[in-house]
Amino acid sequence: MDISITRVEKQGKRPEDSALGFGTIFTDHMFNMDYNPEKGWHNARIEPLHNFSISPATMTLHYGQTIFEGLKAYKTAKGEIQLFRPQENFKRLNSSARGLCIPEIDEAFALEALKELLKVEKEWIPETPGTSLYIRPTVFATDPFLGVRASHTYRYFVLLSPVGAYYAEGFNPVKILISKDHVRAVRGGVGEYKTAGNYAASLLASEKAKEEGYAQVLWLDGVEQKYIEEVGAMNIFFVINDELVTPMLNGSILPGITRNSVLQLGRKWGMKVSERKISIDELAQAHKDGSLTEAFGSGTAAVISPVGEIKYGDNIMHIGDGTPGKLAVKFNEAITNIQYGMAEDTENWIEKL
Ligand code: PLP
Ligand code: COI
Repeated sequence: MDISITRVEKQGKRPEDSALGFGTIFTDHMFNMDYNPEKGWHNARIEPLHNFSISPATMTLHYGQTIFEGLKAYKTAKGEIQLFRPQENFKRLNSSARGLCIPEIDEAFALEALKELLKVEKEWIPETPGTSLYIRPTVFATDPFLGVRASHTYRYFVLLSPVGAYYAEGFNPVKILISKDHVRAVRGGVGEYKTAGNYAASLLASEKAKEEGYAQVLWLDGVEQKYIEEVGAMNIFFVINDELVTPMLNGSILPGITRNSVLQLGRKWGMKVSERKISIDELAQAHKDGSLTEAFGSGTAAVISPVGEIKYGDNIMHIGDGTPGKLAVKFNEAITNIQYGMAEDTENWIEKL
């Protein structure tokens, strides 16, 4: 499919890298493409960034049939532009599409279109390590209809946003709270898909956690509320004795690409790595007897985020000494060095523009 390009008349200006937060500034152009049953996906185009005009009956607004991805483009010291495992994001987008009854998108084409968009917007990619261009591919249902069914028409778009750190804490350990009152996802539901409803379901608990001074919620499973699942916007890892452990994928956890990268590196480094069930009781016991030495989250936005405190009811578990743990530092360096082209891409994770 051809991609038409319409350029803005005057390019906007990217703020200083040091002023970048997360998700508030958008670049000059976006990618758009439409779907209907007659034409399939069609009208691929790069256009000036613009607001959408949609019917108040647009199905997404009512029933949440929408999916998205999150990945980043990095600029190396030599000025090269590179993506980290983008094929995995488009694979997961299609997995989410199947889960939400949305027509799949050709993954190779989606990557090609993204590269075209990045070529147009390359001046927007910040260069300081720790900053990057966050990429948000999204699909949403566009039928104006109030009955409940899968939409017949869709829009796919890609929005770009230069970003710095996701957490105000930066790489300093964050505090997370285990919710006893709320659950995010259940077995057989949509927890493993990147769909808006999972984030909507997390808001009330997240707001309560913030009121208590916690950055995010650590979710337990939605059935027994006994097993650890993931954090609001990251997967979770623990170091217990000499074991690097993360909850196994069970259908209600997002299969994180950073998670997968940590597992791959850990195994390569000869560590004892497990994907298994971890109960809150096991965690509390490991904390009590001192065998829980580290906790950290993994995600595109957060990269590796050390966790220094976990609260569960009255039990406040302090982990480490207030500074980032050894393994969090090691994984963070290994992954970001590959992302920014400062280390050899031994795992074949980099896709250059
Ligand atoms: N879990 C949730 C709920 C997320 O939103 C994210 C972020 O994308 C992750 C985990 C981490 O996934 P990834 O490493 O692919 O970014
Ligand atoms: C990401 O890490 O890409 C996320 O999607 C996390 C959050 C911004 C929703």
